[in-house]
Amino acid sequence: MEKKDLILIRENTAEIYVHSSDKDSIPSKSMHVFYNKKMELNRDISNLAVMAYNELYNPDKLIIVDSMAASGISSIRMLKECDNIHTIYINDVNPLAVELIHKSISANELDNSQIQIIISRKDANFLFTEIAQKTSIESEVLLKKPNIISIDPFGTPNLYLDSAFKAIQRINGLLCVTATDTAVLFGIRPNACIRKYMSKPLHTEYCKEIGARILLNFISRMANINGMGIFPLLTFYANHFVRIFCLTLKNKNRISTSFNNYGYIVHCKKCHYRKAFNRNPLQLPRKCPSCDNIEKIDYAGPLWIGQMHHEEFINKLIDLNNNLKYYNGRRIHKLLNLVIDEINMPISYYNLHKLCQRLKLPYVPKIEEIIQIIKKKGYKVSRTHFDYLSIKTNMDLISLQNCLLEIKKKEFVN
Ligand SMILES: C[S@@+](CC[C@H](N)C(=O)[O-])C[C@H]1O[C@@H](n2cnc3c(N)ncnc32)[C@H](O)[C@@H]1O
Repeated sequence: MEKKDLILIRENTAEIYVHSSDKDSIPSKSMHVFYNKKMELNRDISNLAVMAYNELYNPDKLIIVDSMAASGISSIRMLKECDNIHTIYINDVNPLAVELIHKSISANELDNSQIQIIISRKDANFLFTEIAQKTSIESEVLLKKPNIISIDPFGTPNLYLDSAFKAIQRINGLLCVTATDTAVLFGIRPNACIRKYMSKPLHTEYCKEIGARILLNFISRMANINGMGIFPLLTFYANHFVRIFCLTLKNKNRISTSFNNYGYIVHCKKCHYRKAFNRNPLQLPRKCPSCDNIEKIDYAGPLWIGQMHHEEFINKLIDLNNNLKYYNGRRIHKLLNLVIDEINMPISYYNLHKLCQRLKLPYVPKIEEIIQIIKKKGYKVSRTHFDYLSIKTNMDLISLQNCLLEIKKKEFVN
């Protein structure tokens, strides 16, 4: 590869090489080496997560595996922006990517860094297995297990999770997983979801949350198979991807307790009733508890019905973000504040536009207006990062609809 075919681009503190012919193409698998400027937000939040993890859960030196590094942008930014890194594995199966990673490491003057930088061109599963073997007690060259593993594939991460759990530190490891197969998780391709995640999705107004919970459930089950469990720190959707940060745990009692997080969502396609149920599928209602309809009652799952985020972690991310002044800082601030509002709120959300459309209302009230009305009536209510036009509430749907109708009546009187 001639240097003349490459150009240097900057993202925050890092400069990386990309192929000139890739520069203006729409990010896709067919690029020589994948780079998507829009995923900068993902990398910003990943860096915040690494810093927060190091402060809150693991003061030791960090061993990080960036298993699908592409241009290496995420690793190079971590090396430049995060402290306390001992070792980083920068890996990609694409040989052109590995060539670029070497060049970009030099361009950022990291070749002589004190940090151990291990660049490789391996299949991620092979790399994880190799790490797992070298970190097992039987190994002749016993290494420490990585405490952070990032999986950022094209599409589903499903086939990398089992070996990632074998490689990662078993207590308080940080697993960072991206899924971009949103058509699958959000129920546009339901059979593919059953095949890939062993779970039935539903294409409803809150399908993004269902998809994120299906992915969480799958990650957790993969942990269970490996004698571990997970503790979710942050689960978010942005720019057509879902990203999950979770801690590993291996305490048998905590694993058994976490089974309470497995369940189903029952949804009526006629009256839009929805409710989460604990893990026994035999107890799911056969007719809609709200309108008694039998034909239109449906379900999604198994999925994660527990908390998706951890308040202490998100507050730390918010603090760090306020200090760091990223280009995406304001967007991250908004997203994290919405995420914090979601904690302890019921599963699912109502899109105000869709609700008003169904009620044939001639207008949609301001989201803050309806939030205040619901609060005054004594119910819990919040916005959600999954959909900026939606609210989460424990108010039942009929009362919620009545609130909207009341606003309409008031407008007429005025
Ligand atoms: C979405 S890109 C990763 C983007 C990158 N993390 C970033 O922040 O720009 C997916 C990358 O995974 C690599 N990849 C796909 N399958 C792989 C596998 N089985 N093992 C390792 N790398 C793989 C691809 O070559 C591609 O570079």
